[in-house]
Amino acid sequence: MEQVRLAFAARYGRPPAVVAVAPGRVNLIGEHTDYSGLPVLPIAIERHLLVASAPNDAEAVVRVASEQFDPPAEVVRGIANAPVHAPWHRYVSGVVAQVEGVSGGVGADVFVGGDLPPASGLSSSAALSVGLLAALGAAWGEPLDRETLVARAIVADRASGAETGGMDQAAIVFAQAGHALRIDFEPPARRAVAIPPGLAFVVANSGVEAPKGGAARDAYNERVVGARIAAAMLADQIGVDLTNPPRLGEIAGVDVVDILVEELPERISPVEVSRTGAAGLEQLVQLTAARFDHMRKVPVRKLARHILSESVRVDEAEAALTAGDLVRFGKLLDASHESLRADFGCSTPELDALCKAMRRAGALGARLTGAGFGGYALAAVPPEQVEAVLAAATEAGGGPAFEVHASAGLEVV
Ligand code: GLA
Repeated sequence: MEQVRLAFAARYGRPPAVVAVAPGRVNLIGEHTDYSGLPVLPIAIERHLLVASAPNDAEAVVRVASEQFDPPAEVVRGIANAPVHAPWHRYVSGVVAQVEGVSGGVGADVFVGGDLPPASGLSSSAALSVGLLAALGAAWGEPLDRETLVARAIVADRASGAETGGMDQAAIVFAQAGHALRIDFEPPARRAVAIPPGLAFVVANSGVEAPKGGAARDAYNERVVGARIAAAMLADQIGVDLTNPPRLGEIAGVDVVDILVEELPERISPVEVSRTGAAGLEQLVQLTAARFDHMRKVPVRKLARHILSESVRVDEAEAALTAGDLVRFGKLLDASHESLRADFGCSTPELDALCKAMRRAGALGARLTGAGFGGYALAAVPPEQVEAVLAAATEAGGGPAFEVHASAGLEVV
């Protein structure tokens, strides 16, 4: 905190008015379920982005400098679609667009520091959006309430071009120390699930970056479209109307769905689906920023199999935590990873090897966490095995690997 205050003062010649402390998040289970309206079970961790801010005299200019993100951003308020000079500037302009109505005309200086590593699957981008929104609102004397923060941060994050769900922002804002946060989206609900004694968590880097602005974004959006196609085709067969965009969550409970999933096409393009009349093209490909090739065949059957089975694992994992059944919890993490690898297709050889190494070193279970395609893996570990698992993870993945604890959500100081 002191370091960030000093860095702010050194840069802007005065102390910050507020500092928003936004944690990273690690998803325990429920991967790639949120944008289908199906549940997730993340924790916030004790690694943070610290977003220091104070109003400035510059007419409507928000300046953001950072230790983590380069080069500094300068966004003029009220200008739609201004050019960006680095991928991370999209988050800044996305956030600035979300505070358009606040204290019209006033600018702000911002410095972002902290110990949350970027581009790794620990949600640095959502921490940035949430932290920036909270800091700007507070600096301008109109702090946003927590529900509004989550809703607006989701929209701001999508300015990066990834059509993400709402897990990260809700976890960062609403997490409680010592608890995981079960988040449901349809209907919206949240409950804290106590982490039982005897359960520690290790996260380890696979050595492959997973920047949300790059290739991982296309792979991510392809799967969002595939999930919508699966929902539309299944709903068409069952004979129910879905909302827009179509989401698997609305039909996940129907008896026959598990059987019908196996009859879905392996891959199909949005154009082909629209010709069947199951859904309009616009419903399938609507993305806020990214362009999507309508002719591109996207995976459907295996993807839907993963999403539906993962949703059941979230219920089972919550029950296992509540019952203190750590062995069962670990097995569910393993099953999640296997499903993400074999069916969903977002693991990498490095993540597979890392999980294997951590299991061999005594983890109860291990899986990739976050969007995948690189980034971090998570292991559930008996406390006495933490050192061994950290050593094995560092050897297999190159590090960094560290223990994390379920921590509190956003704080504004
Ligand atoms: C990213 C997104 C989340 C979620 C995960 C996968 O972190 O931001 O909304 O979809 O991927 O579970």
